[in-house]
Amino acid sequence: MPRRLIYAANWKMNHGPTAARAFTERFLALTSPAADRELWLFPPAVSLTMVADAVCGRPDIRVGAQNVHWEPKGAFTGELAVPMVTETGARAVLAGHSERRHLFGETDEQVGRKAAAALKAQITPLVCVGETLAERDGGRTEQVVVRQVDAVLERVPAEDWARVVMAYEPVWAIGTGKTATPDDAAQVHSLIRFELSRNGVTGRVPILYGGSVNKGNVLSLLAREELDGVLVGGASLDADDWAELVGLGG
Ligand code: 13P
Repeated sequence: MPRRLIYAANWKMNHGPTAARAFTERFLALTSPAADRELWLFPPAVSLTMVADAVCGRPDIRVGAQNVHWEPKGAFTGELAVPMVTETGARAVLAGHSERRHLFGETDEQVGRKAAAALKAQITPLVCVGETLAERDGGRTEQVVVRQVDAVLERVPAEDWARVVMAYEPVWAIGTGKTATPDDAAQVHSLIRFELSRNGVTGRVPILYGGSVNKGNVLSLLAREELDGVLVGGASLDADDWAELVGLGG
C-alpha cells in the first residue's frame, strides 16, 4: 500500500473564529487534495464549526477538537462533550496532549476514557503520549510511554484500534526548538507498535511525531518509515507556512 501521511495542525489556544476563517480560506486556496496525504486541523473549540463548515468540500481535510470530556452531557462546567464536537462536523479529537496532562493534570485513566468516548461516537481519537525531559534523562522513556499506552489499552479493546491514531510527542521537544532525532522518534514509535501488538492489536496504527517540527526538519523525520505523519503546533499557525510544509513530501 502506498504511504499516506497525516499532517496534523494543533493550533492550541490560537485562532478564534476570525483568524481561523482567514487561515482556512487562505489554506484552501493554497492546497488541493493529494492521494498521499491527509490534512488535519485542530482549532480551538470556539472555531470548530467555522473551520468544519469551510472545509466540507475537501475530503482530504479533517477537523478535530483539542480536548473533550468522556461523558456525553452533564454538569461539567467548561467542558466539551463528544456529541457537541460531532455536531460541528469535526471527526477527530486529541486525547492526552502533554499540555493537558502536565498543565491541567489529566491522568492516564482520563485519557483512556476520552479515547473510548470518541470511538463510541464514531470519531477518531488522536492519542498523544510522550516523556518529560526528567523522565528521558532518568532512562524512563520506555516505562512512561508503555504506561500511557497501556492505560488506553485498558479502555479500548484491540479490535477498535483500527480506528485510533497515535502521536508520540516528547514533552521536552514541544515548543522548545529541540526536535527528537529521526532515530529517537523511530525508536519510540517501534516501542509503541510492539506494545500494541503484544496486546493483540493486529493492524498498523498510524503514529505521528510531534515536537518542534518545521519546514527544515520535516523531511528528515518523515524519511523514517516508522513515522506516519506529524503533529505540529507553532509551525502550523501561518497558512502560507503550513501549506508549504504539507507540500513537502515524505
Ligand atoms: P510545537 O510544534 O510548537 O513544538 O508543538 C507540538 C505540539 O504540541 C503539537 O501538538
